[in-house]
Amino acid sequence: MAALDNDSDSELELEEKQFTIGAHAFQVHVVGELPLETLFALESKRDEISGQRAWPGSLLLAAEISARPALVADRAVVELGAGAGLCAMVAARCGARMTAATDGDDRCLDLLTRNVAANGLDGVVTVSKCFWGRDAPPVGDLVLAGDVLYKRALVEPFLDALEAALAPGGRALLCHLPRAGVSHEVVEAALRAREAAGGPALAAVRAPASAEFGDDCTADDAAAARVYELCLPAADDDADARRSRFAVRVSNLANRVDLSAVQNLFRGCGVALVYRSGPREAVVCLHDESGVGRALRLDGSVVRATAIAVTRMNTGEAGEP
Ligand SMILES: C[S@@+](CC[C@H](N)C(=O)[O-])C[C@H]1O[C@@H](n2cnc3c(N)ncnc32)[C@H](O)[C@@H]1O
Repeated sequence: MAALDNDSDSELELEEKQFTIGAHAFQVHVVGELPLETLFALESKRDEISGQRAWPGSLLLAAEISARPALVADRAVVELGAGAGLCAMVAARCGARMTAATDGDDRCLDLLTRNVAANGLDGVVTVSKCFWGRDAPPVGDLVLAGDVLYKRALVEPFLDALEAALAPGGRALLCHLPRAGVSHEVVEAALRAREAAGGPALAAVRAPASAEFGDDCTADDAAAARVYELCLPAADDDADARRSRFAVRVSNLANRVDLSAVQNLFRGCGVALVYRSGPREAVVCLHDESGVGRALRLDGSVVRATAIAVTRMNTGEAGEP
């Protein structure tokens, strides 16, 4: 996602809007009405300002959380493509244990930071950059995303980020409205393919609890929206250990990484069990040999390592967990 140039940037006027979601009121900065000439100037770059307003997907998801606070209570909540940040802020107000709002666009991150502060949620909602496919997201047991699939090319990177963000035993809620080329059929097919490949299970596809927010989310928007609910089974370490036959040692890590982060990192490689995780090293058992090759191609930035060396070992060398 390219950044807007400075000239266009200076023309983007922000306005403050009030949103009431259930019992919660928020002051949110969004992009105001743009003069016609500015719209023309931005025509080829409309995607870049897409997160700077509150879209129906987030509004519907936020309304659902507010109506069912048990969804977030005591959970570590991560929002992907948070835009103006309404979902994350509602989650925090509804009792999430930890709330992380992420977006891949720097302009949105500025807006998010501003919105979080304006609603007294500084230090309660953390804001960080997660550009899908480039940055490792924070890990949570509830992952939220509203209206993030507006181009077909975003589907797979987004689902990669979602899988990376979802802790074992966790749940994800994606509220989608059909947008250019991303119909519900496209989303459902992508989710079912992921499930078949060992990703999170598609537990439900349903209409959101209806809610209207004037022009920001009309009755037609609500009728077009679907909530996709995904679940990742809790890790069954014993069963995994029985299946594991290969081990790799990941060394030269710059930072200490905790067990769940390493396990999450290796999930796409068929990780069976993380045996050890120390300040500079982790030992991981993989289900099959093909995972060893995939582990060797790990991107060092994912675990903030200066360099990662992955060495194949016999499982006997891995020692006791
Ligand atoms: C249509 S907006 C929705 C924003 C917000 N969720 C809402 O419903 O109001 C899509 C959001 O996805 C973010 N996004 C798009 N591509 C992304 C990528 N590759 N990585 C991370 N975020 C991305 C945009 O910056 C934007 O904030």
